[in-house]
Amino acid sequence: MFQTSPIEAATQSDLTREMATRLHTALTTHLQQAYAPDQRKQLRNFSATEVADLLGVTGQFLRKCHSDGSLPEPTIIRNGRRFYSGDEILRARQTLEEGSRSAGKYLPGRRGDDKLQVIQLMNFKGGSAKSTSAIHLCHYLALNGYRTLAIDLDPQGSLTGFCGIQTELEFDGASIYDALRYDDPLPMSDAIVRTYFPGLHLSPARLVLSEFETETAVNAGRGVAFFERLSRAIETVQHDYDVVIIDSPPALGFLTLTGLYAATSVIVPMTPSMLDLASTQQFVEMTSAYLGVIEDTGVQLDHDFFSFLITRDDPSDIPSQQIVSLMRALFQDRVVAATGLRSTAIADAAMLKMSIYEVIRAEMTRSTYDRARSSMDAVGAEVAQMIQQAWRR
Ligand SMILES: Nc1ncnc2c1ncn2[C@@H]1O[C@H](COP(=O)(O)OP(=O)(O)OP(=O)(O)O)[C@@H](O)[C@H]1O
Ligand SMILES: [Mg+2]
Repeated sequence: MFQTSPIEAATQSDLTREMATRLHTALTTHLQQAYAPDQRKQLRNFSATEVADLLGVTGQFLRKCHSDGSLPEPTIIRNGRRFYSGDEILRARQTLEEGSRSAGKYLPGRRGDDKLQVIQLMNFKGGSAKSTSAIHLCHYLALNGYRTLAIDLDPQGSLTGFCGIQTELEFDGASIYDALRYDDPLPMSDAIVRTYFPGLHLSPARLVLSEFETETAVNAGRGVAFFERLSRAIETVQHDYDVVIIDSPPALGFLTLTGLYAATSVIVPMTPSMLDLASTQQFVEMTSAYLGVIEDTGVQLDHDFFSFLITRDDPSDIPSQQIVSLMRALFQDRVVAATGLRSTAIADAAMLKMSIYEVIRAEMTRSTYDRARSSMDAVGAEVAQMIQQAWRR
């Protein structure tokens, strides 16, 4: 099991290698316990109340659909109560949409020539809740009937881990790096996997993705401009999705910039502290300089929205609330009205690489769960509204 004896190493490289080995063992043990018995993540089942809520119908309507046969019964019925798998929810959406008079009521995704929405979460401040916000948006949108693609542009692979692929355990499949690399890149469709979460696909990240930074420096000026690489890759799969959510690394390097160019909208997650405010200022200033460089090549960048999202919000903390008020005064509706509340429910779920949508309410303090869930729902609903607005609905 774990080595806990003091480390004795002859050199610094031996010392750090031993540290890496111990951390690897601890991580894999933790993950194997979390995913036992088959080490694969699965989505929980949803109660009828939750499903009615997600579909925007009453419980009575849902029961009627089952009794008149317009919707098949879910596989799991315990003590007369129905529980739905993610796939069953998705199928119910499809069936109800087919029978619905108003298009888009159950499947709110693209219609006609609606443009694919590519939303990048970025901020070079580490720990500003980019990945946490990204996975919650992915799950919210997928549960609400949007065909969603998650792209993990962070070599650390946090979003990949949330999507059930443990790069710390075994993973040797293709990743986003393979679609972006300069040397014989793979088609984007080969760098995408389905996840256990219905409606959500993922282009995973592995550590090798960091090579993109050095390779870009070496290949500068040759072939397609580096910043176009991701958007070109996304273009080849765009018909399969309504929304793409991009998580980025805590750096403003070539990876973040190729994301920024592909993005139709940008969200800058920010924790309301003085340090984060200062860091975000620097980040936005640098972003402006880089965007200027891209624009100077003759490219016109046009983002549908470019907004701040307050994360790890604590309404009882007065200094942080002053920063929230300042942000709202400075940028009005460019600050998402809903905030990601700081919550132990979210932090606890993250320990198991889960979003709040995967947690079973009864297994948590209900009020804690409810507050966290409604805050993430509110952020998701606002982003969905922005998406609909971009489609002029
Ligand atoms: N709403 C929240 N409530 C409590 N903890 C949170 C919340 N959002 C994020 N966290 C915690 O804050 C930490 C940082 O979050 P996260 O990893 O999402 O940030 P990040 O910006 O992606 O970090 P990095 O810059 O390293 O990529 C994590 O431990 C996460 O669990
Ligand atoms: Mg992250």
